[in-house]
Amino acid sequence: MPTQSINPHLPFGENKTAPWYGQDILSVKQFSRADLEYVFGVAHEMRGMVERVGTFDLLKGKILANLFYEPSTRTSSSFTAAMERLGGSVIPINEVKYSSVSKGESLADTVRTLECYADVIVLRHPETGSAAIAARAARKPVINAGDGVGEHPTQALLDAFTIMEELGRLDNLTVTMLGDLKYGRTVHSLARLLSKFSGVRLNYVSPEILRMPGEVMEEVGVPQTEYATLEKVLPETDILYVTRVQKERFENIEDYEKVKGAYVIDPAIMKTAKTEMAVMHPLPRVGEISPDFDDDPRAAYFRQMEYGLYVRMALLAMVLGKA
Ligand code: CP
Repeated sequence: MPTQSINPHLPFGENKTAPWYGQDILSVKQFSRADLEYVFGVAHEMRGMVERVGTFDLLKGKILANLFYEPSTRTSSSFTAAMERLGGSVIPINEVKYSSVSKGESLADTVRTLECYADVIVLRHPETGSAAIAARAARKPVINAGDGVGEHPTQALLDAFTIMEELGRLDNLTVTMLGDLKYGRTVHSLARLLSKFSGVRLNYVSPEILRMPGEVMEEVGVPQTEYATLEKVLPETDILYVTRVQKERFENIEDYEKVKGAYVIDPAIMKTAKTEMAVMHPLPRVGEISPDFDDDPRAAYFRQMEYGLYVRMALLAMVLGKA
């Protein structure tokens, strides 16, 4: 893995010619394979820096506006931790009902306001395309932290980094995505991103009403196969990517009740899986992975959250001209 160099002794200068300086991060479609390798190299370096010194001043004096119109634990707190580990500070807006959004302020005006105070804006919003709307309104970089059922690009980047750190490769993998593939924006982003690697095969296991959307499958350039049950594909799987059925996206609660709990990963099911593979989940989980499996070395979902810190540190440094 290439290692990028970080100079923590230059707290105020920034490289305005760096390729990602001032860029929005809206979709995994923006990232070539070389870009991904660059992000992973910077993230790897961030991991080393955190392990060696904890916090350092790479982004001292920089401010992040963390604007969340939907609930979040991991994305919101890891961006906050990333900025603070880099010596910067954060304007947290986790409850938009306490902001002027509750008075009817538009998304465009809200980001125009925040960029007066901040250098970069992280946005989660329930509507697909909202991050692109915010980016058009803003002069400062906007990072998409999940836009409805659209994309969650920083999650896909951390998922790929997790695969790299856990299995040491992103080529020649069989990845099985399980659960809510219709509403799960993380799998939409990850499927697109994995199609940039060679020898990747994607299995989609879901209830009929939660199949991977056709428009995502059309964009993915690697072999894809759909299944209703897991048993047949589990023994060949290198990465099992489990998702929560997203209750909040259903129009009809009866449909949710029919498919919730359709798949549960537990030690008994995992007996047929390889010994060298990883089980991932963007979290939160609501029953689709039994806690009885948590101590299995293949359970990578808690480590996955930590890898997210390093990837988000890398992305903040990149868009602010420090990597
Ligand atoms: N994975 C993820 O996006 O988690 P949060 O909803 O807690 O941010």
